[in-house]
Amino acid sequence: MRALTWQAPNRLQVDTVPDPSIVNPRDVILRVIMSSVCGSDLHLLGGYVPAMKPGDIIGHEFLGEVVETGSAITGFAKGDRVISISIIGCGDCEHCKRSDFSCCDNSNPNPQATDLAYGQPCCGIIGYSHAFGGYAGSHATYVRVPYADVNLFKVPDGVSDQQAVFVSDAAPTGYYAADIADIQPGDTVAVWGCGGVGQMAIRSAYLLGAERVIGIDRFPERLELAERKAGAIPLNYETTNVHEALLELTGGRGPDRCIDCVGMEAHGTELDYAYDKTKQMLRLHTERGNVLRQAIRACRKGGTVSVIGVYGGLLDKFPMGAIVNKALTLRSGQQPGQRYAERLFEHIRKGELDPAYLLTHPMSLEQAPEGYRLFKEKSEGCLRAVFTP
Ligand SMILES: NC(=O)c1ccc[n+]([C@@H]2O[C@H](COP(=O)([O-])OP(=O)(O)OC[C@H]3O[C@@H](n4cnc5c(N)ncnc54)[C@H](O)[C@@H]3O)[C@@H](O)[C@H]2O)c1
Ligand SMILES: [Zn+2]
Ligand SMILES: [Zn+2]
Repeated sequence: MRALTWQAPNRLQVDTVPDPSIVNPRDVILRVIMSSVCGSDLHLLGGYVPAMKPGDIIGHEFLGEVVETGSAITGFAKGDRVISISIIGCGDCEHCKRSDFSCCDNSNPNPQATDLAYGQPCCGIIGYSHAFGGYAGSHATYVRVPYADVNLFKVPDGVSDQQAVFVSDAAPTGYYAADIADIQPGDTVAVWGCGGVGQMAIRSAYLLGAERVIGIDRFPERLELAERKAGAIPLNYETTNVHEALLELTGGRGPDRCIDCVGMEAHGTELDYAYDKTKQMLRLHTERGNVLRQAIRACRKGGTVSVIGVYGGLLDKFPMGAIVNKALTLRSGQQPGQRYAERLFEHIRKGELDPAYLLTHPMSLEQAPEGYRLFKEKSEGCLRAVFTP
């Protein structure tokens, strides 16, 4: 089959590789219909996530058709149109039983690296390095989904391919970010980052009761979509002082809920960005924390900061004092989309959520390296490039 492989930082190529096969009784093999880029891939591309090997297939946000099922799979049959949640749960461990699928104890067959780094091993993630299980990704003709009875969801009638593909990752991630922010009716929510995940977080915040949502970014076309499609008040951090603008919009109190949909590769205009970037380049620390600092500083007293932008390691100049003295709640996590997939399909069917607009660049799999270039550079209005093998 054909697949997009990671060769070295910032080097991708399309290769002919062996087809996947059933390894465990709960596996399913899908023929990939569509597979999207995600901001998380940029961390792999940039070399920020170690444990990548040349030849690894990336991609974790996808829609497919069932072509083969393991012997223990009864709920899916050949020809079913399905999505898989990118973060793998087993369904049986104590965490999965609590619906904390992204804390799964069993889905990562290479637990050593995350155990050492974080104190306990983390779950497996499709197409996301050997530290997260070494699973082959979805930018390929076929992909193997483990524990398919837990991670696969049939796409209902009335949901298009272009909508469904994002129920794999961007939509549940945005929804989870809003959910853990503990939004109360009447709240003002600020969302940093208007990429695919931020767009979904903005829309989800409204679905969960927010009165106003402010979307922060610097790309005019992303801000325009956040306003027109998701209903955000746009704020361009290159032309506006974000902290002052947020206070101004909230009568001096600060937003009730602040959501970081940017993560460790934040860009910025203030001094701490230059400091972070220099230290990151010198490999003295791993994260650029300017968005997180700004969110914590802006958040109203007693409010919540929800972090679903990915951070990988150690962060310098973390404003712990503001968290304690303003009584903030900090929530985070990789998305446990298994909790939300059915609910999101229902919102889509009712017309309350339409993720299809994230798909700005439909491309063939052969064009995937070019798709990643556009996505990384945010050029030609690329919000998400989606590949069809
Ligand atoms: N936790 C999870 O389960 C999960 C799942 C998917 C994605 N993610 C993470 O979510 C983040 C966003 O993903 P995406 O696909 O939307 O990525 P993306 O690259 O398309 O979007 C990121 C956006 O952040 C903006 N940004 C950069 N610096 C900023 C700043 N200082 N202030 C405001 N905005 C700023 C960029 O301009 C860009 O539009 C990534 O870190 C990704 O790894 C997490
Ligand atoms: Zn992702
Ligand atoms: Zn589990």
